[in-house]
Amino acid sequence: MSRFSESQDPLFQRINASIDFDRRLWPHDIRQSRAHATVLAALGVLSEGELEEILEGLKRVAGELEAGEFPFADDDEDIHMAVERRLIELVGPAGGKLHTARSRNDQVATDLALFVREHAGRAQELLRALMGTLLDVAEAHRDWALPGYTHLQRAQPLYLGHHLLAYFWMFLRDSRRFAMAAESTGDMAAGSGALAGLNWEIDRDLLAEELGFDRPYPNSLDAVSNRDFALDYLYAASAGAAHLSRLGAEIVLWSSREFGFCEPADSFASGSSIMPQKKNPDAAELLRGKAPRVMASLTTLQGTLHALPLGYSKDLQEDKEAVFDGVDTIELCLEVADRLLQGLSFNRERMAVAATDEMLAATDLADLLVAEGVPFREAHGIVAGLVRGAVEAGTGLSDLDGDSLSELPPRAVERFRERLEAGATIESKVSAGGTSSPRLSEQLQQARQALGDLSA
Ligand code: ARG
Repeated sequence: MSRFSESQDPLFQRINASIDFDRRLWPHDIRQSRAHATVLAALGVLSEGELEEILEGLKRVAGELEAGEFPFADDDEDIHMAVERRLIELVGPAGGKLHTARSRNDQVATDLALFVREHAGRAQELLRALMGTLLDVAEAHRDWALPGYTHLQRAQPLYLGHHLLAYFWMFLRDSRRFAMAAESTGDMAAGSGALAGLNWEIDRDLLAEELGFDRPYPNSLDAVSNRDFALDYLYAASAGAAHLSRLGAEIVLWSSREFGFCEPADSFASGSSIMPQKKNPDAAELLRGKAPRVMASLTTLQGTLHALPLGYSKDLQEDKEAVFDGVDTIELCLEVADRLLQGLSFNRERMAVAATDEMLAATDLADLLVAEGVPFREAHGIVAGLVRGAVEAGTGLSDLDGDSLSELPPRAVERFRERLEAGATIESKVSAGGTSSPRLSEQLQQARQALGDLSA
């Protein structure tokens, strides 16, 4: 019997069905059904024999899904109904007892939490691998100088190892955010029923333990309405995507002929269909280009949840494609970033030439004046005047004729020349966290330690 006298319009089915995308939840749905069946048997709703039949049937259904041989029917609305329909086809009336004491509302919330938890773990694994690669590449280029930039204007020189480690710390924070997202999947919705709880006193603690949750939600209405854990995941993914986009954008810039600082591996670049000379850093461009998709997934889900009445509304079905696209995009990008970095070659000479631009030592000269008792603001003005003179004369700071420098304390000028000659301005950044070699060594050690702690 059905409450309806007419069958569903195909157009209605098109907007209403989620089977085309939610089928990928099947491993979690089956896992949840197995645990649910066990709890039903403990309650006496299923006999031992029926439990056996259901578990056996679910195994067959899983086998079909795994092998891509599951016979989907036209009117399978979603994965939950498809699995149940097939189970009943395979095992008969016992299968019809499985949906006792549950609703698709608590079922789908549980499946999605399991899915998000799995992928929050996966993102942490991928980040760990990427951080390991970053650390190796940083170590291998620890004393390769390049200019650091602000406003994309040459600012002060850095070691490439230092520059790359900046990403290491971003990814460490991302990893922590994914860990927090995993933690917010800790509450189990199963056993909440449609919204108000069940007429059956099922053992939710046991169920939570079976499914690897930390605890059941204390409130059934919250349980079926909540998708915060997916928001948390997508926020972590968005922050990670933003970081990857900055790395990608820098690699794009650095691969240009104008910079010439690096070159992707041939296996990670494309040519042009018309311009034979081209080698394009597509992977790096796509790290930049895919980030907005992940951010869009976050705002999609925020939009879905905004002002939504408590309890299940069909709007919530829209959570899945946002989550799936966010997961697929960030996982792909993390993997690609790792491989891209592994194959990236840097041009030491090009970077060094750019880094020895004397203008990058202007702050050093100001600081040397300060050491001779000149107040910094005044020193800044003096050096700015020298820079202006050098720019107008088309020379470097150290080539300025004696006149310009003669008004300065001689010791400062002497020390400045010595420093330039030794190429030592980069080594003058001695504060903790600075780019000088001893500080960079400390940082490399800190990074190794942090990576080790993550793996522990
Ligand atoms: N396919 C649905 C979804 O993805 C499952 C829950 C349906 N619940 C309902 N009351 N119609 O959200």
